[in-house]
Amino acid sequence: MEIRKVGVVGAGQMGSGIAHVFSLAGYEVLLNDISAEGLNKALSTIERNMERQVSRGKVSAEDKAAALGRIRTTQTLTDIARSDLVIEAATERETVKQAIFEDLVPHLLPHTILTSNTSSISITRLASRTDRPEKFMGFHFMNPVPVMQLVELIRGIATDDPTYQALLKVVQSLGKTAASAEDFPAFIVNRILVPMINEAVYTLYEGVGSVRSIDESMKLGANHPMGPLELADFIGLDTCLAIMNVLHDGLADTKYRPCPLLVKYVEAGWLGRKTARGFYDYR
Ligand code: CAA
Repeated sequence: MEIRKVGVVGAGQMGSGIAHVFSLAGYEVLLNDISAEGLNKALSTIERNMERQVSRGKVSAEDKAAALGRIRTTQTLTDIARSDLVIEAATERETVKQAIFEDLVPHLLPHTILTSNTSSISITRLASRTDRPEKFMGFHFMNPVPVMQLVELIRGIATDDPTYQALLKVVQSLGKTAASAEDFPAFIVNRILVPMINEAVYTLYEGVGSVRSIDESMKLGANHPMGPLELADFIGLDTCLAIMNVLHDGLADTKYRPCPLLVKYVEAGWLGRKTARGFYDYR
């Protein structure tokens, strides 16, 4: 089965990045969001990021124009049901994701593959709420999607091999590299990365170092491209907290306890770059 039409649910930083890379690779993309403003913002972000690639000689102006022409938007979720592949990239809340899949299911084509870009939630559990657990997979992109090479592929307990092979081919067609992860809380990247970020927040909370000295230490001392607190702001503190909660609940180990300071920042609405305030002030 050939995948040509891709429906993306959610036009936030992940959904817009996913629409960006699929359209550049030649797929027809239908991007869905409940907010018209969110869709407009996503289109301008995609345009800006593609222009950056043009100015660095990575993409031609013609390819950029053709890719933008392959992206359409809709505020009606069920419009995307008639795609060959659906990628859900909505907010990292299980109830929200389940509601999306439940609304989509009655309208899907028989062959549609359903995926979630969840960074931590059980694929088996999400799949069980659909009519096609064998055609359901975790499809986890990294942020910023146009730059990061990796895509995690996560099979639920019922995912069949043709579905896995189809997604492997899609990842190759995007020029990215797939890593297979088992369906355990937070898979591979976030199982390792987000507890490190949480530890950096504890390091701040306990007064071991300042925001700048913690980030500088990890950049210069461990060669990380971004310090852990800067990275937390980039990912979104709400997403980091949601992932820590999934690890804490799913693995029942106190080593995954979210740092109280991370909880407090999220309660304050200081979610990082997207709210212009997190460990750094972007206002
Ligand atoms: N779209 C297109 N291109 C982009 C881009 C975007 N959104 N953002 C950056 N770029 C490109 C730039 O054009 C530049 O291209 P060249 O190499 O051709 O010059 C390149 O990426 C580097 O960008 P900059 O020079 O502007 O900035 P930088 O050197 O500071 O790199 C960064 C920026 C790539 C984001 C780098 O800081 C980095 O790799 N940070 C770590 C990112 C990371 O760890 N991501 C994973 C987060 S975890 C996750 O995503 C999983 C989850 O579920 C939470």
